[in-house]
Amino acid sequence: MSNALWNHTTTSDEVAEALSSHIRGKTILVTGISPDGLGLDFCRAIAPHTPALLILAARNPSKISESLSYLSNLFPSLPLKTLVIDLTSPSSVRAAAEEINTSVGKIDVLVNNAAMHAHTLTRGENGIETSFATNHLGHFLFTNLLLNKGGAMEGGGRVVNVTSNSFRKGGIIWDDPNFLKTPFGEGWGAYSQSKTANVLFTTALAEKFGSRKVYSYSLHPGLINTAMAKKMDMDDYATKFNVTLHWKSFAQGTATHVVAAFDPAIEPQNGGFLTDCQIKPITGDEAAWATGSENWERLWKLSEELVGEEFS
Ligand SMILES: NC(=O)c1ccc[n+]([C@@H]2O[C@H](COP(=O)([O-])OP(=O)(O)OC[C@H]3O[C@@H](n4cnc5c(N)ncnc54)[C@H](OP(=O)(O)O)[C@@H]3O)[C@@H](O)[C@H]2O)c1
Repeated sequence: MSNALWNHTTTSDEVAEALSSHIRGKTILVTGISPDGLGLDFCRAIAPHTPALLILAARNPSKISESLSYLSNLFPSLPLKTLVIDLTSPSSVRAAAEEINTSVGKIDVLVNNAAMHAHTLTRGENGIETSFATNHLGHFLFTNLLLNKGGAMEGGGRVVNVTSNSFRKGGIIWDDPNFLKTPFGEGWGAYSQSKTANVLFTTALAEKFGSRKVYSYSLHPGLINTAMAKKMDMDDYATKFNVTLHWKSFAQGTATHVVAAFDPAIEPQNGGFLTDCQIKPITGDEAAWATGSENWERLWKLSEELVGEEFS
């Protein structure tokens, strides 16, 4: 259990200060780095605590370079590396993993933060629906290539999968995950499917690789007015799902990233889901589709089939 005083108002700066000794000396890779995003704010919060290396991964070279300048201006002596990765492209994911596995000795913490919400049905290079390809499948392949024998996480480490409370709105569409016949609507079903996959992938990593010292956590950051949130019609979401919107600042949003990435106190809850800086077990009553070995094993097999490679 993490610090019981941390909650929805706690900031990433406060958590990073408290966990400073666990950030020091670590090599951390974060996907989905861009200005106005949570990935970059997470980096900003941990940067003062002397990580060995921060690797900024994104698909858009101009956004990487803007993010790099932002961090270098704030922290001139911060060791930084950039990585281009397009999660919808298996060849890009494999090239990125190869670059890390050959050029970086060890990754201590991998934060799979990148995501998108597809508002219309589109498919990636591999023919897979874009939100599933980006939010789950690209991260599934990238993570496993780092965990493989000879990879930068072969010896273990933390894998943080940033999900969303949207996993509560629907699970994997087992008979049609690629929307060949299911109506796509405004993409909420596809987004929920991909975010359920983030939760199940997290449990699977803990179950399969916990004995190799792999610790994995999924998290909901809260609602923050990032580039992605600006593109989503959150009022429509609130009406459709009958929820009240509680906005957080960026630093409140990334506080849970810092707990999931560094807090040793949550190690006994390997595979757990966090929100507002605390582990919050998902019950079958809330979202049965995001729990249980039947679901995570089925997703693992489906993901292996779709990437064309088995991982154990
Ligand atoms: N903001 C919220 O209220 C909220 C709520 C719940 C969960 N989340 C989760 O928080 C995480 C961060 O989201 P955010 O709100 O910070 O949004 P964001 O600023 O849009 O960040 C998402 C990042 O993912 C990247 N990305 C999209 N498609 C990609 C691809 N094919 N390959 C590689 N990178 C790709 C984006 O790159 P581009 O900039 O090039 O598009 C961007 O850097 C996501 O997992 C999201 O689901 C956010």
